[in-house]
Amino acid sequence: MKPPLGVGVVGCGLIGRRRALAAAANPASRCVVVCDTVADRAWDVAAAAGAREVADWRAVIERPDVDAVVVSTPNGYLAEITVAALGAGKHVLVEKPMGWNAEEAERMRGAAVSAGRVLKVGFNHRYHPAIVEARRRSDAGEVGRLINARCRYGHGGRPGLEREWRANRALAGGGALTDQGVHLADLLHAFLGVPEAAFAWLQTAVWPIGDLEDNGFGMFRYESGAVASLHASMTQWKNLFSLELFGTAGALVMNGLGGNYGVETLTVHHRRAEGGAPETETLRFEGEDASWREEWSDFTGAVLDGRPMRGTADDGIVAMRMIDALYRSARTGAPAAV
Ligand SMILES: NC(=O)c1ccc[n+]([C@@H]2O[C@H](COP(=O)([O-])OP(=O)(O)OC[C@H]3O[C@@H](n4cnc5c(N)ncnc54)[C@H](O)[C@@H]3O)[C@@H](O)[C@H]2O)c1
Repeated sequence: MKPPLGVGVVGCGLIGRRRALAAAANPASRCVVVCDTVADRAWDVAAAAGAREVADWRAVIERPDVDAVVVSTPNGYLAEITVAALGAGKHVLVEKPMGWNAEEAERMRGAAVSAGRVLKVGFNHRYHPAIVEARRRSDAGEVGRLINARCRYGHGGRPGLEREWRANRALAGGGALTDQGVHLADLLHAFLGVPEAAFAWLQTAVWPIGDLEDNGFGMFRYESGAVASLHASMTQWKNLFSLELFGTAGALVMNGLGGNYGVETLTVHHRRAEGGAPETETLRFEGEDASWREEWSDFTGAVLDGRPMRGTADDGIVAMRMIDALYRSARTGAPAAV
């Protein structure tokens, strides 16, 4: 058996903690060191994951016992830390979005290629069981050829949002489209491929977050003729995740992500030759959110055994190109090429 992968986590907030615990719990890895500019957070996650803590990310990427680095800081630092970690010979799992824009994402991929190291983007939604099962059925042609899609993802913000890094353009890069919309872009890419054109309108309707959008409405058009719509919201007062895919022979409808997004379900509709209501089956996926654990196994498999994984650097770049095109369209009022 290969020795476990030594892991360093940079950024010990909500997501860094999850990543550190996933690394510590997996027999293929151990969490060696964690880092946060806020000492208490680093200390707390270090204690939970059985790791040491440091205050400066450079001390993480210099350590010889660190083979892989998780970068889970605010978006504005993702590219700099990722490129430096790859340059130091580490494999990297960088959180979504893959930096500020496609240009930063390309820079990160370039650094991974030069270093010959694995670079993964944190797209944990691809590992949610309803989405995994929907992909299996879509690939098997159960609903025919996909012709259009509708997806929505949102939360209701929180008082004081305007003081968080997500409300600061330099640290966040964008608003609702960048934050949750990038997951939708990635899922549309996974099911429908790369679109050719995008169109968007943005709103800053409620939250005082400057020129960042609290709602983004986007459309994508594909060479196949397929069309998809997307809505990412910070005024979705009751949390919502919904991805609906329509094919020539039926539909795949995913709702919920567990927790305060509600029970995760996949409903499959099979169109009847005689018309009328479709034949419908609904699968429910209850219990803890295993997507973080599954995604970590995928990453360690790629690093240790060279296995193919989901959420590659190429996938991250496509998602950023889709989001960039939405912003370009919103600025010009015209469709933008992806
Ligand atoms: N995959 C997902 O579904 C998902 C969900 C939420 C957030 N994210 C992403 O994860 C990243 C972190 O988000 P979060 O919600 O955990 O934010 P957070 O604010 O909870 O955590 C960020 C942490 O980084 C620390 N930090 C800031 N600058 C640092 C630096 N230079 N060095 C070390 N630590 C630093 C902060 O002190 C904070 O503890 C973001 O890129 C975000 O987009 C992904």
